[in-house]
Amino acid sequence: MTRMRCDHTPAWGLLQTAFNTTGRAFDLRSAFAADAGRFDAFSQSAPHVFADLSKNLIDVATQQLLFDLARQSGVQAHRDAMFAGEAINHTEQRAVLHSLLRKPPFAHAEQAQAAPEIIANELPKVHATLSAMLAYAQAVRADAGITDVVNIGIGGSDLGPQMAVLALEGFVLEGKRFHFVSNVDGHELAALLKRIKPESTLFLIASKTFTTIETMTNAQSAKAWFESSGGTDIARHFCALTTNVPAANAFGITTTFGFWDWVGGRYSVWSAIGLVLAIAIGPDGFREFLGGAHAMDEHFRTAPLESNLPVRLALLDLWYRNFHGFTSRSIAPYHSALRRYPAYLQQLEMESNGKRVDAQGQALPYGTSPVLWGEPGTNAQHAYFQMLHQGTDVIPVEFVAVKKARHDLPGHHPMLLANALAQAQALMVGKADTGGHKNFPGNRPSTFLLLDDLTPASLGALIALQEHRVFVSGSLWGINSFDQWGVELGKVLAKDIEPRLASGDATGLDGSTAGLLARLRT
Ligand code: F6P
Repeated sequence: MTRMRCDHTPAWGLLQTAFNTTGRAFDLRSAFAADAGRFDAFSQSAPHVFADLSKNLIDVATQQLLFDLARQSGVQAHRDAMFAGEAINHTEQRAVLHSLLRKPPFAHAEQAQAAPEIIANELPKVHATLSAMLAYAQAVRADAGITDVVNIGIGGSDLGPQMAVLALEGFVLEGKRFHFVSNVDGHELAALLKRIKPESTLFLIASKTFTTIETMTNAQSAKAWFESSGGTDIARHFCALTTNVPAANAFGITTTFGFWDWVGGRYSVWSAIGLVLAIAIGPDGFREFLGGAHAMDEHFRTAPLESNLPVRLALLDLWYRNFHGFTSRSIAPYHSALRRYPAYLQQLEMESNGKRVDAQGQALPYGTSPVLWGEPGTNAQHAYFQMLHQGTDVIPVEFVAVKKARHDLPGHHPMLLANALAQAQALMVGKADTGGHKNFPGNRPSTFLLLDDLTPASLGALIALQEHRVFVSGSLWGINSFDQWGVELGKVLAKDIEPRLASGDATGLDGSTAGLLARLRT
């Protein structure tokens, strides 16, 4: 598989020329006035997701150059290598196979024989573990003695499951409460422990490595609380979700569900890490969630670049980041159940593509991951949309709206949808006012993702769409999207500082850290 960094492709220079000639001055209002078919030309259906890309600063010629760039950079071969289980995470010598977690079982032996060895070996294990985990989920659902399920995990072992349980609140089993503890800040766990009882609580200790200090500390404290409050049956009340089953056993947990090193932490909601979701929405719901993601995998794997939604989104991301110079993207879910979706996307995009060197370790001459941030609409409108409309920076906005409401309060949903449409419209059309203060420059780009309904299947598809989009932009940028060395240094330094808080030893510390340490000790 040959990859070519985006700036080494012939298309890169042509894109620079296109930006200098027409791109910089591109005006959305003129583009719509000149082309009655723009909405159709720049919208795209993918499984469970309709995307209106027409309010982006792009014309047909530029889009064509971007497709050329994707082709020349070898993104299709890279994608195929990922699906075939090649060790494309080369800095950790690992395959990247989260898509296998949602792949249906082989229908017959010939399919297994034709598959790459790793797929043939691992897929049966995926389905055996999935069946066992879903049977366990069903048993917990049926167990009236368990009223509270507490997921202890952080990063990918928290953000995905938490986002999904909240997003699918309309499908969540009644009669059980679901809690998430991630921060090592004891305020979080301590507050929860006041509200639950050991005999009716199930703790899920979710950690790929089973070494993450926050999760281990919270798990230890939960176990100590459980035992000191009279709890005895650890096998019933603690379950570990990890690739490191021996460490979970050593911790004293015998009920475990495993997964594999070819699942990255931020891509792990589809694995045993998703157990809390499976308990919440049930085995059928969880299978639908996997099914929606698989449909998006197939779209990404097989659709031509020109009608491949993850590819089209990633190309826009590159166009904005590297030519327009936009540094962030605002995520605007117009559905309160998607309130953790921006946080989830932050890890997905910024931990994957927040890299400054290429696959060979050479410093990159261009920007990579944008900053992602956002809050649900309409709340966001009353907080920071002022800046989106009239601030000095242009920030592309990615709306998500859902056609169907799952409540029957009259008037609310049309109002919500009207606001989503109006904000996207206002960003684009602007409003001329000679006074300055009331002038809206407009021409501010947005993408509008539309789901018919927020269901396990559509959420699965939406999340897989985002995963693949991040893959494509990382691939174009020539980086390894699947490691996260950038989180290591702070962890190591925290280990060095922690004993100093007790001893006061400031030897070798910089002046600021030493000063703060001294203040914390007085
Ligand atoms: O922040 C680094 C990281 O390794 C993430 O990639 C991961 O999701 C998180 O920590 C939690 O890791 P684990 O599941 O191993 O506890």
